[in-house]
Amino acid sequence: MSHLPPGPRSQIATLARYFRDPIGCMVPLSQKYGDTLLFPGKPPLVVTGDPDGIKAIYTADPDTFEPLNQDFGVFIGARSLLLLGGKEHRRARKLMTPPFHGARMRAYGEQIVRLTEQRTENMRPGQTASMLELMQEISLDVILQVVFGVTERPRMAALARLLLDLTNGISPLVALFPSLRREFGGVGPYARFIERRRRLHAQLDELIAAGRASGPREDILSLLLAARDEDGQPMPDDEIRDQLVLLVVAGHETTAISIAWALYALHQPDNAASLERLRADLSALPPDPDPESLAKLPYLEAVCNETLRRYPLAPAPAPRKLLRPLTLKGFDLPAGGGVAAAIGIAHFREEVYPEPFRFRPERFLERQPSPFEFLPYGGGARRCLGAAMASYEMKLVLGTLLRRSRLRLASLRPDKGTLRAANAGPAHGVRMIVEARAG
Ligand code: HEM
Repeated sequence: MSHLPPGPRSQIATLARYFRDPIGCMVPLSQKYGDTLLFPGKPPLVVTGDPDGIKAIYTADPDTFEPLNQDFGVFIGARSLLLLGGKEHRRARKLMTPPFHGARMRAYGEQIVRLTEQRTENMRPGQTASMLELMQEISLDVILQVVFGVTERPRMAALARLLLDLTNGISPLVALFPSLRREFGGVGPYARFIERRRRLHAQLDELIAAGRASGPREDILSLLLAARDEDGQPMPDDEIRDQLVLLVVAGHETTAISIAWALYALHQPDNAASLERLRADLSALPPDPDPESLAKLPYLEAVCNETLRRYPLAPAPAPRKLLRPLTLKGFDLPAGGGVAAAIGIAHFREEVYPEPFRFRPERFLERQPSPFEFLPYGGGARRCLGAAMASYEMKLVLGTLLRRSRLRLASLRPDKGTLRAANAGPAHGVRMIVEARAG
């Protein structure tokens, strides 16, 4: 017998709330219905922001779930890690985990710092720029070099165009209504999308073939090509291609948005002391610090963590579909329903994070929250594969930029965020004016 938590009745009103305020929409709902609540929909989705409830999801046998949104295979590739479940997910995850291991990231530190410097070297005092756009350029450069191993500028630009054409070219209508996914004799948004996907796949196939021919290199693609499963088998090329598309979709906007939020938060007048403290730590480093010493600054890490806490990318990311019943906080959830950890509640619990809407990096120096209280990268068997890369990149890009530039926000208009594809990012692009630049 199922026994479900209470929750809002109207799916449309709840979605409207979410579209209006993707970061702040959950707290009022949890005040009304509790920390574990039910969203109407097909299937209905139970979300929980209670650490015990989150623990029940992340520590359950992984075979209890499969990904909820299988429908996106056409966009990110049916064999991409995000859409695989059970044995298939375990096999792919095992092959993909070593290249993304935290210790490996050190090999990429110099590259990330250099790419940041290249993209920011022409910034001049008085100039205004959208930090979100700048961070998107840097994070795409990082993926192209570190993940794909493409280092020559013209090739990077050509591949970047194809990737952005594909990821930006997904019409929300076509994404929401599978019945519109028809080519109509080669015209219309879906036909355009299919053509772009064909061109991108052709480029990626070339890249994979060249990687196989070239022998071992340092980039993540080469490590994936060299990986072997327990039976000594490599990942098939068409699956590697799906994983490459996924890594761009999962790793590009997410990291860029988070760094842009960090800049937005640090430059609020109320947070001037946090910015000064970070600046003092950065200027105490030698003139050209090695990336490791930058990444090890405790306050820089606290700033990044506080950003990920205060500005989560989705209120309840990566919902799972239950393949068998699950008991969670005394509720009996039936097979077939959806379940997700609600970051939008967990990251704003007053007893864990006093004054939760304040940006206060110090809280991460005073107390280390548990993985069920702080979950920017999700958790359990599906925890973000790129978490170590994202954290390292956030610290290096933010540290490198702030060491060389003084910036101020072009407008102090509050930004509560807006939905950008699947993520909640700054609505106004974090436009900033360059005040000073060091050589
Ligand atoms: C600040 C940046 C990022 C954030 C906040 C973030 C967050 C997340 C979250 C919440 C999930 C779902 C986890 C779950 O289901 O429990 C996820 C999954 C994933 N992320 Fe990230 N991510 C970031 C950057 C990256 C980067 C840089 C990459 C790789 C280049 C990446 C690759 C992935 C992949 C492959 C998955 C699917 C894992 C699976 O299903 O097994 N992410 N990420």
